[in-house]
Amino acid sequence: MLLSRYAQALLAGGALALVMATPVVAQDGSTAEQTIDVMNTLFGKHPGKRANHAKGVVAEGSFTPTSEAAALSKASLFKGPAVPVTVRFSDATGVPTIADGAANANPHGMALKFKLGDGSEMDVVVNSLAYFPVATGEEFRDLLKAVSESGPNAAKPTSLERFVATHPAAATAGATAKSPTSLARQTYNGVNAFVFVDKDGKRQPFRFRFVPAEGEEILPAADAAKRDPNYLMSEIGPRVAKEPARFKVQAQLAEAGDPTNDATKPWPNSRKVVDLGILTISKAVPDSAEAEKALLFMPNALTDGIEVSDDPLIDARVQAYAVSYGRRSQ
Ligand code: HEM
Repeated sequence: MLLSRYAQALLAGGALALVMATPVVAQDGSTAEQTIDVMNTLFGKHPGKRANHAKGVVAEGSFTPTSEAAALSKASLFKGPAVPVTVRFSDATGVPTIADGAANANPHGMALKFKLGDGSEMDVVVNSLAYFPVATGEEFRDLLKAVSESGPNAAKPTSLERFVATHPAAATAGATAKSPTSLARQTYNGVNAFVFVDKDGKRQPFRFRFVPAEGEEILPAADAAKRDPNYLMSEIGPRVAKEPARFKVQAQLAEAGDPTNDATKPWPNSRKVVDLGILTISKAVPDSAEAEKALLFMPNALTDGIEVSDDPLIDARVQAYAVSYGRRSQ
């Protein structure tokens, strides 16, 4: 069956059986509402939980910037001193009980809230995909709908096969995200482009990248599938209690002509990568389940000196996260 890994991820935790029994018809409401409706159908409704990336763990640490970062952007984040950061790691899908080592738990997510010196906050929301399967919110809704209509008994070509035929990144993006040995041993990518603005007003498009200081450590899929269902979520607290986990926070800089409005298109590896600072994760919060309820990470919650680009996915995400937050807060 022509199912991309990302599409398979969307069928996690028995969602496929549910889908076969319940064809999705989400015609009402905004694109964001339709997207969350399809997610709720694929993954089930789980009160109080996120529509996507439902399973997670919250930790705390700090960010220490480099002087290279301060040259690229006037953001106070890069002026120093170090600022506190709240981090939520997560598994993909809206299934809160998904096994951490399941293929469907990819891409893993990392969401960060930087507590800036003036009392404001800045969010960065990244995942382990190298690039996204689609470029717009409408396409993402349509991909989810296509997955929901393409169970094993669906007539050929299935909706998903037809979708993938015209959206090539949907067939390949999923395979770029793999199961790590630890949430602290995986690289997380910004995928969407943002824009640095320096003190003279000069603009530089970039993509975030969080690289584990100890290097990536990926498990063969078969080994990951045999691990304890909570092997990632339960490992991070004891790990950082023993020794803080560190990530290099980097920016891949676009060159003239690199597309900033299409998250399906990674920029060439030859593009300059600048170290922005070090993220140090030093402790898990005492009650992660309670802490994550109150947290909302918004991809456009930035600060003076860092702006959104013309990437339409950013606003699509903002709208969808707001709908999901509204529903999980009821
Ligand atoms: C149109 C595209 C996308 C849609 C519709 C979407 C949808 C969602 C939704 C509904 C949530 C739950 C939000 C909440 O209840 O707080 C979520 C969480 C998340 N998404 Fe997305 N997403 C998209 C693209 C992306 C991309 C491009 C990335 C990373 C590069 C990403 C990473 C994450 C992460 C890490 C979380 C968990 C946030 C947390 O820990 O609170 N998503 N997404």
